[in-house]
Amino acid sequence: MDGVADGAFSWIYGLICNFFRKIILSIVSAGPMPTHVAMIMDGNRRFARYRKMKKNSGHRYGFQSLVSTLRNCYELGIKYVSIYAFSIDNFNRKPEEVGGVMDLMHEKIEDALREGSFIKTFGVKVQFVGKLELLPEHVRSSADKLMKETAENTRGMLSICVCYTSTDEIAHSVQEAFHENCIRSGKFLNGNECGKSEANSDACPITLADLEKHMYMAHCPDPDILIRTSGETRLSNFLLWQANSCYLHISRALWPEFSLRYLVSAILEYQRVQPYLEKIKKKQ
Ligand code: FPP
Ligand code: MG
Repeated sequence: MDGVADGAFSWIYGLICNFFRKIILSIVSAGPMPTHVAMIMDGNRRFARYRKMKKNSGHRYGFQSLVSTLRNCYELGIKYVSIYAFSIDNFNRKPEEVGGVMDLMHEKIEDALREGSFIKTFGVKVQFVGKLELLPEHVRSSADKLMKETAENTRGMLSICVCYTSTDEIAHSVQEAFHENCIRSGKFLNGNECGKSEANSDACPITLADLEKHMYMAHCPDPDILIRTSGETRLSNFLLWQANSCYLHISRALWPEFSLRYLVSAILEYQRVQPYLEKIKKKQ
């Protein structure tokens, strides 16, 4: 009998929380809303360490926080969300931690592929971004499947930056643009392919537009807000090209603690500075 009463209580409690959550979301969305929110999800291991848990359970709690934040963002009408899920440098961590994060990703991507998953019911298009060939084979193939299955979704867009760093993105873009321009202009010098020593930048000039076209993040507008959790005030090689004029919000919460109130606080701050940011963008 106690179990039934507990169940009923938590059901009613859930309903009330959701009711207040919706009210908060509708108040916040009355102001100017960002189109694109990018997030550096930092502090998972500290969260685990402070609670004397295993490192990888910090990443598990981090994933729960990601799901609730995504739900809040899309319900707020934010169309583009980008997350820094794993950097190229993160592969230098201990093999058991890297393996643990990769297995967690694989498990969660497989969950997302199931009918009725949050990604599918919300109609979110998922794009994995970065040097995807660095992913273990099982993660890569699940990621490819999820991108294919969500390709037609239009309600929201989620860019998951894995095996990503901005400097790699820029280098990749230069190589692609150079190669494409050489082919287009037919300037294969002495029969060599572009990129070989005898090709030069006069033969294949690269414009800013060429570079932007080949960025991994070319499918998104530049972010309006970049949120970093855990109080760290660094960009850590994330969206350096795209974050030129966005509002940078540093949250003191560790990523697994990043709940609705922290998201709301970031958006309210953005709304306060938004007219100024617009003015700056117009001047550029
Ligand atoms: C940063 O905290 C977090 C990571 C490097 C991994 C984040 C990955 C997830 C939450 C899983 C994502 C899964 C999918 C499917 C997108 P940290 O390890 O740097 O923690 P610390 O700063 O306290 O050391
Ligand atoms: Mg960290």
